[in-house]
Amino acid sequence: MKQPATESQATSVIELRDIHKIYATGGGQQVHALRGVSLDFRNGESVALMGSSGSGKSTMMNLLGCLDRPSSGQFLLDGIDVSGLRREQLADLRNERLGFVFQNFNLLARTSALENVEMPMLYHRDSLSGKQMRQRALEALDRVGVADRAEHMPSQLSGGQQQRVAIARALVNQPRILLADEPTGNLDSSTTLEVMRLFQELITDGLTVILVTHEPELCRFLRRTLVLRDGQIIQDKRRDQVENAEQARQQLAALKQAEEAEDAK
Ligand SMILES: Nc1ncnc2c1ncn2[C@@H]1O[C@H](COP(=O)(O)OP(=O)(O)OP(=O)(O)O)[C@@H](O)[C@H]1O
Ligand SMILES: [Mg+2]
Repeated sequence: MKQPATESQATSVIELRDIHKIYATGGGQQVHALRGVSLDFRNGESVALMGSSGSGKSTMMNLLGCLDRPSSGQFLLDGIDVSGLRREQLADLRNERLGFVFQNFNLLARTSALENVEMPMLYHRDSLSGKQMRQRALEALDRVGVADRAEHMPSQLSGGQQQRVAIARALVNQPRILLADEPTGNLDSSTTLEVMRLFQELITDGLTVILVTHEPELCRFLRRTLVLRDGQIIQDKRRDQVENAEQARQQLAALKQAEEAEDAK
């Protein structure tokens, strides 16, 4: 599946050209959810995708994640034209290069944290032994700081821990791009900071991260902010200064102190 990247492709991991998405709903109605989106995402870039409810954020993430196809327009992933791929090729591409994190974690309920993380490897093309899968899954859980909860079921984990397991699952096939649709939407502020600190570490390690959020204060952790309205990009800004993992850690400590002081009252 890997194709040699030319100079120009080497810098863009994703190219969108005039992407439209039209949903057909029952009763013959149509929803024009994306209206001509053209964007480039560079390798290692960190992006916040914002916009009000219904503006097309999840639609765009589903297209970027090859979970759905555009109605028209061109989408290149690592220089590969996704529209020309068959279903299985698309699944391989998705499995090799993309990781997903969702707002509601999407973990399998009666399945341990470890087994949840092993799941994407079952579909991976290099077949691994059970032992290798277990080893990799444990490493991924360790990377996100929940290796000690490997045998727990999702219901036995806090929201933040469940999201960490979901992030471990997204990372286990070593993707180049991490797509996160409101990953902190169900988390309190200190858990949100913990998850953002984790994302910062991944960004520092060179992962491309695209994160949907409704919280403007999270944009300071990401280099680029995109705003969608009615299916169109209405703002595209880059910032020079981003807050790093250490700053997130400090803010987290300050927040915890403030909460403890509040509780002590
Ligand atoms: N499967 C679908 N079938 C029909 N219409 C859809 C479908 N998915 C989304 N839509 C419509 O497309 C538009 C964009 O929806 P989308 O889910 O992308 O919004 P969003 O920006 O993610 O919103 P939110 O912040 O509420 O998650 C909405 O008008 C929505 O109703
Ligand atoms: Mg959404």
